[in-house]
Amino acid sequence: MDAATVKPTRLTGIAALRWGWRFALDPLTSTRRAFDTFGPCVILAALPLIRPSRVAVLGVPLVLTAGAAFYSELMSRPDMWRGVSVLPGGPKGSAARRMSPGLMPLTGDQHAHYRKLLAQPLRRSRVETLTKNMARLAETEIASWPVGETIDLWEYGRRLMQGFAVEFLFGGTSEQSRAVTEMGCRMMERKWDWRAFAFPINLSVTIYGQIVREAESLERRMIAWVAAKRGHPDGRDIAAVLVNSRDVGGNPLDDAAIVSQLPSLFGLSSEGGQSVLIWTLLLLSQHPDIAARLRDELQSKLGGTAPSLDRAGDLPFLDAVVKEAMRVLPPVPLQFRVAQQQTTIAGQDMPRGTRVVLNTFLTNRAPGLYPDPDTFRPERWFAISPSAFEFPVFGAGPHICPGYWFDLTAVKIAVAAIVMRYRMDLPPNTRIDFRTQPTLRPRARLGVALRPANGAEVAPTPVGGNIRRLVTLPA
Ligand code: HEM
Repeated sequence: MDAATVKPTRLTGIAALRWGWRFALDPLTSTRRAFDTFGPCVILAALPLIRPSRVAVLGVPLVLTAGAAFYSELMSRPDMWRGVSVLPGGPKGSAARRMSPGLMPLTGDQHAHYRKLLAQPLRRSRVETLTKNMARLAETEIASWPVGETIDLWEYGRRLMQGFAVEFLFGGTSEQSRAVTEMGCRMMERKWDWRAFAFPINLSVTIYGQIVREAESLERRMIAWVAAKRGHPDGRDIAAVLVNSRDVGGNPLDDAAIVSQLPSLFGLSSEGGQSVLIWTLLLLSQHPDIAARLRDELQSKLGGTAPSLDRAGDLPFLDAVVKEAMRVLPPVPLQFRVAQQQTTIAGQDMPRGTRVVLNTFLTNRAPGLYPDPDTFRPERWFAISPSAFEFPVFGAGPHICPGYWFDLTAVKIAVAAIVMRYRMDLPPNTRIDFRTQPTLRPRARLGVALRPANGAEVAPTPVGGNIRRLVTLPA
């Protein structure tokens, strides 16, 4: 399909407000409903927009769309369609605002410069040297999980994935690095609290005000943390790479430039993997036949040894399971772009400032490529090889995620280690509601009971909650 051949539907007035409100409450199912009603490109005109410092009318349209053609058109032209953060920044001159940008809004030479810096710690050849140590870390961490008890999978997943990031991307575990990365991740998470968007008022009792205050303290700690790395270049540590680098003009990177990048890197480096890990484990607990086939592959190929994935190519079913989990429940289900100039989308003229929300969740359900799209069926991956535009879970084009190989490897190692050691049962009457914040995550605690992997097979517990709107689960 060519994006130019799609006929967009333009909604104005009350209809635009109604769909905009539905989108704010639940962007995934509302967009699915909008597409079922109007087709795969819906333009909402003149929505009110709440900015941290003021309420303004967004006099430009918000476009909801999905599909490889739109991904290809927008993601390949970052100068025209710039990445935009929808998170609240902070008052002018505040640490919260200094910490906001990250890499997404950068373009041209500046963007290429930072990408080159990040390539060092994240490149595939380096990740491949880490797999044994990753397996060791996973084994040590999960060996301490309490068998026979119910754990909050989201929290345990966070510890594990943050552990990988701190140990292998941010210079190794120390009290200080754990504390700084933890604070950075928490702050990024709190920025997604709807109260921070709804009440952007800088008081100590509001979430927005608390973010502003926490950011001051995080900035101070972060500057002290990276200062100790100055003069000690280390290509394995993102923070050391940044602090010892130069900007595009050849000048040493100052504190402001460093703090503009690090918090988003903390968030990006652990929460995506955490989301993939927990949804993969949940889907396996709901599909014991698939979990059994995965255990067979791991047993026969690894023979009970630590799953270092030296021979990752030898574990095709593990690869298919993780890809399929990311297809059905994408960790980053939406991507945002803003038009830098007047342009067109699907043949329609669009003013400068037009916002577009690209929907990975729905792109991953293209009927021609992914039949029976809501069903978790890893075998489908033996017959397909979609492009990044058709399967944009890590984005596509020049801003494609530079950390994808690191996290794909880390998640596979973690899944393999967990599945070989444990079975996970959901307690009776489990309800799972999701939210998109910006990763796809459970709204509340996700309790699972741990049993040894060699225990008896039991039927999966039926799950309630709105997760069923996204994926087909056993009744
Ligand atoms: C499963 C885990 C991960 C997922 C699903 C994921 C997903 C994504 C996606 C979808 C984008 C593109 C966003 C857009 O175009 O709007 C992105 C960008 C990015 N990711 Fe990841 N990511 C993951 C892990 C990581 C890791 C481990 C790092 C390491 C630091 C990382 C760093 C970045 C950076 C720096 C960008 C911005 C790239 C640019 O603007 O050029 N991500 N990620």
